[in-house]
Amino acid sequence: MPVRSWFATSIYQAPLRAAGSGRFNAELADECRRLRDYDAAGRRWSAKNYPGGYTSYASMSELHRFSSTFGGLEKNLLAHVRAFGRALDFDLRGRTVRMSDCWVNIMPPRVAHSLHLHPLSFVSGTYYVVTPRGCPGLKFEDPRLSRFMAAPPRTAAAGAANRAHVTYPAKAGEVILFESWLRHEVAANQSEDERISISFNFSWA
Ligand code: NI
Repeated sequence: MPVRSWFATSIYQAPLRAAGSGRFNAELADECRRLRDYDAAGRRWSAKNYPGGYTSYASMSELHRFSSTFGGLEKNLLAHVRAFGRALDFDLRGRTVRMSDCWVNIMPPRVAHSLHLHPLSFVSGTYYVVTPRGCPGLKFEDPRLSRFMAAPPRTAAAGAANRAHVTYPAKAGEVILFESWLRHEVAANQSEDERISISFNFSWA
């Protein structure tokens, strides 16, 4: 084949813990709901910026520093971020890699989260805590989309690497990592229950 593909966009998905996350997720879900009850500033911010849902993004975004449950999550995630960095051939020898932000998202039925990226970090991701059947996944957009200009539409049978979007299903106990510049969104929650996830950013120095 004379065609080779270059400039890969990589996405990482794996179970957080090989031994399963059932009990850990029950603890996390409990803490997320208690945080929503407690965090009046976050509820006010969410009413304006995440209508119908709750996020601690603008009020309590360093949860790993204040909660041992989230601290445990940070420790688990760091190993995944290091593995992702190796797959990307990042030279992080002698570098400090750390979680800079970590916040909760509670998405009731009918709530959506529009297209965005995560500035000021190099790897970002989501860990899924509660994922009711039929809840939305994480949809990524081809970062070159604005450059396609006159490119024809793709066939329905287009290969995975040639598609403009990909949606990863949200599965409790799984972590998804991506480079922070990659735009993504979550479609409206069509299930009848709350979906709970934890988002985070990693930086290096
Ligand atoms: Ni995001």
